[in-house]
Amino acid sequence: MLNEFVRIVEVGARDGLQNEKAIIPAATKVAFIDRLSASGLGAIETTSFVSPKWVPQLADAAEVYAGISRRPGTRYPVLVPNEQGMQRALAAGVTEVAVFSAASETFSRKNTNASIAESLARFEPVMALAIEHKIAVRGYVSCVLGCPYEGDIAVDAVVRVAKALHAMGCYEVSLGDTIGVGTPVRARRMLEAVATEVPIEALAAHFHDTYGQALANLLACIEAGVRTVDASVAGLGGCPYAKGATGNVATEDVTFMVHGLGFDTGVDLSKLVDAGRYICEAVGREPGSRLGRLDGDTINRWQAVNKPLGPR
Ligand code: HMG
Ligand code: MG
Repeated sequence: MLNEFVRIVEVGARDGLQNEKAIIPAATKVAFIDRLSASGLGAIETTSFVSPKWVPQLADAAEVYAGISRRPGTRYPVLVPNEQGMQRALAAGVTEVAVFSAASETFSRKNTNASIAESLARFEPVMALAIEHKIAVRGYVSCVLGCPYEGDIAVDAVVRVAKALHAMGCYEVSLGDTIGVGTPVRARRMLEAVATEVPIEALAAHFHDTYGQALANLLACIEAGVRTVDASVAGLGGCPYAKGATGNVATEDVTFMVHGLGFDTGVDLSKLVDAGRYICEAVGREPGSRLGRLDGDTINRWQAVNKPLGPR
């Protein structure tokens, strides 16, 4: 039976805000996340408990996590890089975390001061704590279609790291095109290679949109069977240790496409667009999503007819 639901993991509050130059007040982040919750999103990556020296933008992680209103039915994962981050997350009362490694050795060192093997070893105490406290753990592999330092990345390296994260207990592994250089056939082939070792139900697609390919890449992955996609409202995002990368694919645009493919997402598009506008005003930038530039009536009019013309 076809799964009629596409799960969207909203990463704007973490992947997005980690990359803003200005330090955004915790109260603004809380108001932003509450608006995202109101849109019905099922998963909102809220913040990260990484070193504040490495990412000062998210140094207020505990304050933000304590401030948000948790909507029943929505999950609020946070990023943790090591045991210290996990201890901080536990103290804040989190119920889900995400760990992150990479398919590129150089990126792994630049981003976390550790080789890939060292980063995986750091997750062992995190996983042990997760089991003890019944915390769900998601995993990320960065640089799955290219690295800002090494260039091309062997698919085998992606498969190896994804398999390792899944084997150590990550319920889902998100495949990150950190610098947004992938194109659809490369994306699908990479996904299919990983899916020989990790069930496709346990894989998610995480595309940055630097080269304007992210929606096309997502479509290719959805057609190949992926049902979880990461996206960032207003197209916020980027990694401070991946220079030149732009934001994630915009959640508003992904939601419109996925609804048009005949999937449900549980997301109220108008409320999502509002959340995107709110954060864009707060950080003083234009929406990076296409829908965020349209007026509400236009969006609603086309949303009403945005259905597949026949069975998918
Ligand atoms: P390190 O400097 O090697 O850490 O950083 P260390 O263990 O040597 O400790 C040095 C100091 O940091 C110590 O403090 C520790 O207490 C402190 P000091 O004694 O000097 O005062 N420290 C911490 N403080 C708070 N929270 C912690 C923590 N850990 C150590 N968790 C580390 C290693 C991994 C911590 C660092 O490199 C780091 O935090 N990196 C994170 C970088 C980051 O957040 N990047 C962006 C997220 S990844 C991403 O965006 C990609 C993704 O979106 C997918 C994709 O697009 O591909 C997920
Ligand atoms: Mg990312």
